[in-house]
Amino acid sequence: MSNNILLRKFQISDRDRLSELANNKNIWDNVRDYFPYPYTVQNAMEFINFCISQKPYLTFAIEYRGELAGCIGLVPQDDVHRISAELGYWIGEPYWGKGIATEAVHLITDYGFNQLNLIRIYSGIFDFNKASQKVLEKAGFKFECIFEKSAIKNDVICDEYRYSKVKS
Ligand SMILES: CC(C)(COP(=O)(O)OP(=O)(O)OC[C@H]1O[C@@H](n2cnc3c(N)ncnc32)[C@H](O)[C@@H]1OP(=O)(O)O)[C@@H](O)C(=O)NCCC(=O)NCCS
Repeated sequence: MSNNILLRKFQISDRDRLSELANNKNIWDNVRDYFPYPYTVQNAMEFINFCISQKPYLTFAIEYRGELAGCIGLVPQDDVHRISAELGYWIGEPYWGKGIATEAVHLITDYGFNQLNLIRIYSGIFDFNKASQKVLEKAGFKFECIFEKSAIKNDVICDEYRYSKVKS
């Protein structure tokens, strides 16, 4: 925990607020298409059950001043890439612009390197998502390259900006 920001396990009681915060086109427009929209309480329940079954724990609720504010998680890769994990996150819109994502990225990166023994954490950001690119830059990630025309969102083909941080 730092700066009023805590990463904690999800709990069943998060379901209503999770669905309220996640049910937002402004979030959906910046994440993968498998993220539900609309995001129902049933979606929230299924997601929470998935999170709490993880061993080791990989997907966290972000708490800001005691309130659920968003979600952040790591997806470890396999085979020869098992020392790497992909990072994903979102913050509920009422909480944007308070430095929450940046701090959450710091916290989960420490967890990934020190508890999960990862060597590399990376993320791919849509070209138009300048706020998320700024988050990774502020959190000490290195801009690596552009995956040109690698994704399609809302029927528009876009580039992905790839960022990573390696364990020092
Ligand atoms: C991107 C997101 C996670 C940022 O969360 P946040 O808690 O507001 O982020 P922070 O406050 O830590 O930092 C955001 C930074 O981006 C900047 N920013 C915001 N909008 C911007 C824009 N359009 N262009 C450039 N910078 C922008 C902010 O000013 C801030 O930088 P600063 O601290 O130097 O002023 C949040 O907006 C979100 O959840 N968006 C939808 C989902 C998403 O994009 N998830 C990430 C997918 S890879």
